[in-house]
Amino acid sequence: MTAFSWLATALLALTAASANTLNFSVVYQWNKIDYAWPTDSSKAQALSLGRYQPEHNAPAGLAVLGQRVFVSVPRYLQGVPSTLNWLPSNGASSTSPKLHPFPSWDMQGIGNCSALQNVFGLEVDSHGRLWAVDAGRLFTRKNQRRSDLDKCPPKLLIFDLNNNNSIELRYEFPEDVVSRNSSLLSDLVLDKTSDDWLAYISDASGHIIVFSLGKKKSWRVQHPSMLAAQPEHEPLPLGRDLGVSGLALSPLNDRTFLYFSTLSSPELFSVPVSELRAGSDKLTVKSVGTKSAPSRGMSMDNKGLMYFGLLGKQSVATWDTKFSFREELVFEDKEVLQWPDTFAFDASDNLWLIANKLQALLQRKLNLDETNFRLIKAAHFARHRHVVVIRLGHRFLLLRTPPVKHHRRTYNQLLLSDTLEVLKPENSDSEEGETDWLERALREEGPNGAPVS
Ligand SMILES: *[C@@H]1O[C@H](CO)[C@@H](O)[C@H](O)[C@H]1NC(C)=O
Ligand SMILES: *[C@@H]1O[C@H](CO)[C@@H](O)[C@H](O)[C@H]1NC(C)=O
Ligand SMILES: *[C@@H]1O[C@H](CO)[C@@H](O)[C@H](O)[C@H]1NC(C)=O
Ligand SMILES: *[C@@H]1O[C@H](CO)[C@@H](O)[C@H](O)[C@H]1NC(C)=O
Repeated sequence: MTAFSWLATALLALTAASANTLNFSVVYQWNKIDYAWPTDSSKAQALSLGRYQPEHNAPAGLAVLGQRVFVSVPRYLQGVPSTLNWLPSNGASSTSPKLHPFPSWDMQGIGNCSALQNVFGLEVDSHGRLWAVDAGRLFTRKNQRRSDLDKCPPKLLIFDLNNNNSIELRYEFPEDVVSRNSSLLSDLVLDKTSDDWLAYISDASGHIIVFSLGKKKSWRVQHPSMLAAQPEHEPLPLGRDLGVSGLALSPLNDRTFLYFSTLSSPELFSVPVSELRAGSDKLTVKSVGTKSAPSRGMSMDNKGLMYFGLLGKQSVATWDTKFSFREELVFEDKEVLQWPDTFAFDASDNLWLIANKLQALLQRKLNLDETNFRLIKAAHFARHRHVVVIRLGHRFLLLRTPPVKHHRRTYNQLLLSDTLEVLKPENSDSEEGETDWLERALREEGPNGAPVS
């Protein structure tokens, strides 16, 4: 049976009601970041020595596994006592939990190159390991250059979360791959082949770094698209001089492209994963589209839907990478999303996001009397949008349309103008949450808001 003949039996069409189709809720929020200090006096001492300056601490990197959320606090400025931390993923209250240094306080020593120096990107893999990018360099922006700020090499660490958080790997990048004095490593995505794990890491000085766990080896690729662009859009307080930052990888079942953007341009690029794995000199970089604003973090779900924040627009948008580029706003909040920084999926496919006020922090204009940082989360079923529902007897057939500009279109208009994609055959096992949601939506809204009998 063709999609068309299914459609001919269609009864119902669900339409999206508002721009905020992703239902983010606040997990935690903070005016300022504080830590689980060993003693009150150690905190008092850190404050008096300037080793803890609350107004310079902002959460950025994010990964979630089981009961723990891992959060990095980059050392952009002085006074960040712990650069890698964890929090319970199911807190009793949303108010300002203290960050627990991970794996320990001992591992946070500034200038101790065995310890963590400046952690940005985090990922967890399917073996329960936490991968952490340590940029090595300290106080990377707007600070006087001192040789000891570049003292420690950039490195990659892998912690085994199922084995007492032990360090499974500590890999220092060689100088000819990642420069100690000009690199700025930030995002990390993980790739898995039949016999290896690879990490792709963005270096804002204009490179993408590839690391092979099997070979314990790294290399870098470069292309003019990875360098900072002259901003055409509204100038950002941060990032005019920064190259490649946000990364997203196409899903494992079709791992063809790594997508990337710089902080200085709204343009989105793709590069074939095969060329990264091979370390090609000549990369086939393509411009796939132009977002309505630059973004920081990006993330891809397992069906190829990419999420990215829009800086300056206080919003989160998506693009379904199966279709040509089309940006769709899914969440907008002027208060909550001042700087949508980093996304992460957990094992149940919930989407997590850290929103901080990095623009204010870097200008030293953070007001500690107001809410500055939020960890927010959206349930996975919220991601399936623009769903056309077709009822065949007692079964539902779901068809997903590419993003449409005008939500309240009739079913026939959709049929004429959009490619419909079969998400779920009528006889497939249904995921519990999705069916519940659908049935509720049908009961409450019906086609175009009319009740369904
Ligand atoms: C959004 O999520 C919150 C918390 O999970 C829930 O209480 C609320 O009902 C949801 N809103 C909608 C419109 O689904
Ligand atoms: C440096 O860090 C390592 C790893 O955490 C720790 O074992 C060591 O004691 C630290 N050295 C100093 C001098 O603090
Ligand atoms: C973790 O460390 C504790 C205390 O050192 C030890 O008793 C336990 O066996 C360790 N667990 C594993 C899985 O290694
Ligand atoms: C970085 O270090 C190299 C060699 O150590 C030096 O030639 C270069 O001038 C340095 N660059 C900066 C920006 O300090």
